[in-house]
Amino acid sequence: MNREKYYEMIGGDGTLDYEIYLNTHSLLSCQKPYDALANHDELQFQIVHQVEELWMKLMAFTLLEIDDYMAERQSNRVLTLFRRVHLLQQHLISQIALLETMSPKEYQEIRLQLGNGSGQESPGFRTLLKMAPELWDTFERVYLTGDGKSVDDIYDGGYDHGDGFMVAEAMADFDELFQRFRYHHIQLIHRSIGLDAKSLKGRPVEILQNGLKSQFYPALWSVRGRMTDNWGASYGREREALGATSDGSGIKAH
Ligand code: HEM
Repeated sequence: MNREKYYEMIGGDGTLDYEIYLNTHSLLSCQKPYDALANHDELQFQIVHQVEELWMKLMAFTLLEIDDYMAERQSNRVLTLFRRVHLLQQHLISQIALLETMSPKEYQEIRLQLGNGSGQESPGFRTLLKMAPELWDTFERVYLTGDGKSVDDIYDGGYDHGDGFMVAEAMADFDELFQRFRYHHIQLIHRSIGLDAKSLKGRPVEILQNGLKSQFYPALWSVRGRMTDNWGASYGREREALGATSDGSGIKAH
């Protein structure tokens, strides 16, 4: 096939309404020129990062709306928009897997192109990290303090599957998917440069490990352990085997 012809064609000429509205000319010029690529995998490397930045931009924009709707207690809106954010997070996770089709050897060549660039400098990621705790503040003000409830009330004592519970679960999904991204990202590093490389020792690996441990909304996770302990207290630490109780539930009759 004629490479030059198709390179030109894929760039478009930018004059049709579709191209003008979507600004395709600028969009498709955001990658290195073909003849400057370190190897054939570098285009994928740039595009995956650029697309992920775009999804994070949309996530951040959507989270701002969620915050406004939470403040107005428009819970259905909040839930619909959280569904969008969760899907975007799933895109972030599934799309980094594209980079697993790049061999470790080819990545070494690309790596030389990055200067001191680091994922930590990602404007999208940095923005999301800042926004997450502010969302909690609004949730707490509206659905906890505003309703005179605690997280334990919403999940256990006063559990009614109401708005507070639904929004809390959407926030837990957001938190969990963020963690899942971090986990998959570490797997990607493991696969492309190895986690025991000398250049990763110290701070970089610490950053990644600390990230894996951090939760945005610890109160939404700790409540589950408390509930298990509270319920467990009613039948003791150790349960009978299912066959050992008359009704097969494993819970002794009191
Ligand atoms: C082969 C591909 C990749 C490699 C080898 C890689 C490697 C790394 C390493 C070593 C770090 C630790 C900090 C540092 O040294 O800068 C890091 C951080 C980071 N990377 Fe990647 N990365 C890759 C792809 C991606 C992609 C596609 C994204 C998408 C946005 C991304 C986003 C991030 C973010 C957000 C951080 C900061 C993490 C945090 O603070 O918890 N990386 N990356």
